[in-house]
Parts: sequence; C-alpha cells; structure tokens
Amino acid sequence: MTDLPLLADIALSTEQDTVALGAALAELVGPGDVLALHGPLGAGKTTLARGFITGLTQADEDVVSPTFTLVQVYDAQAAPIWHFDLYRLTQIQDVFELGWEEALSGGISVVEWPERLGALLPRNRLDVVLSSTPGTNERRAAVHGGAYWKDRIADMKHD
Ligand SMILES: Nc1ncnc2c1ncn2[C@@H]1O[C@H](COP(=O)(O)OP(=O)(O)OP(=O)(O)O)[C@@H](O)[C@H]1O
Ligand SMILES: [Mg+2]
Repeated sequence: MTDLPLLADIALSTEQDTVALGAALAELVGPGDVLALHGPLGAGKTTLARGFITGLTQADEDVVSPTFTLVQVYDAQAAPIWHFDLYRLTQIQDVFELGWEEALSGGISVVEWPERLGALLPRNRLDVVLSSTPGTNERRAAVHGGAYWKDRIADMKHD
C-alpha cells in the first residue's frame, strides 16, 4: 500500500479523532502537497478529508466525497484544495481530464483510492493508511512519508 517510511501511528477511537487528524494535517501543508488516503471501503477516508478541507477553508464546508464527479475543488487561502475520489476511475490517464497536473502544480490535493494512480502518484506525497482491527472497533492511522515530511509530522499538533 505504501513503500514510504512510517512516521507516526495514531489511534482513532472516534470519528472525531479522524476529523481532528485531518485538521492537524491541514496545518502542515502548502501548495503542491499531496495527501493520499488509503484504506478499504468505510475506513474513514472521507471523514479525514472533511477535517482536512474544513481546516484549510476555515469554513464549515459540507464535504461529501465526489463519488461521481471524481473531483471537487474548494477555495482556500493557502491554495485551491482538490479532493479526488478515484474509486470509479477506469483508466489511469483519465485523471488528466480531471485536472491532475493543475492540482499538483499549484493546489493542495487530497486523494481517496490513490492506488488507482499507480506510478502517477508523486514520490513526495504523504500516505495515510487507515485500518481497523477485525472483530474490534479499533481504528488506526499509519502516516508514511519521505524526508520531505519527516520533521513536519514530528511537529504535528496531535495527541
Ligand atoms: N475513527 C472512527 N471511529 C468510528 N467511526 C468512524 C471513524 N472514522 C470514520 N468513521 C465512520 O465510518 C464511516 C465511513 O467513513 P468514511 O465515509 O469516511 O469512509 P471512506 O473510507 O471514505 O469510505 P469509502 O471507501 O466508501 O469512500 C462513517 O460513518 C464515519 O462516520
Ligand atoms: Mg470516501
């Protein structure tokens, strides 16, 4: 799912914890950054994206996953936020019609189902792998990233 080094492993006991992790990550990002949200159906990707987007727009945005349009762009002070949900992406190259290059060059991107993009995923992305332990309600987020993210994640205001 990710080949980047593990930077943090965070327990997410409640939905609010997932929202709060998104908001904490929102404080660390700038133009050109890509947040890739991994995890199976219902893992909490959209919930985390909602905290992230709300943190950047400073507004109580109604964030729902762009299941059919595959992308939704939000205005924010730092940069436009591009929220991709690639579950229904049939061919990798279709992502270019959604504005992928524009998102990478000046926007802040948050991507659900990032594995759909294969090698198009940038190396300097931050991977968040959401998981739950079968038979329990325990959910976790494993945060993986390269040197570009290491210090920023170490400084993240999150408990
Ligand atoms: N930490 C948590 N603890 C308990 N429930 C949670 C947690 N995080 C998310 N949820 C709940 O899990 C459900 C699914 O969440 P969400 O829609 O964010 O998942 P998703 O990964 O985006 O799913 P999909 O693959 O369909 O896009 C929602 O009802 C949400 O409220
Ligand atoms: Mg979703």
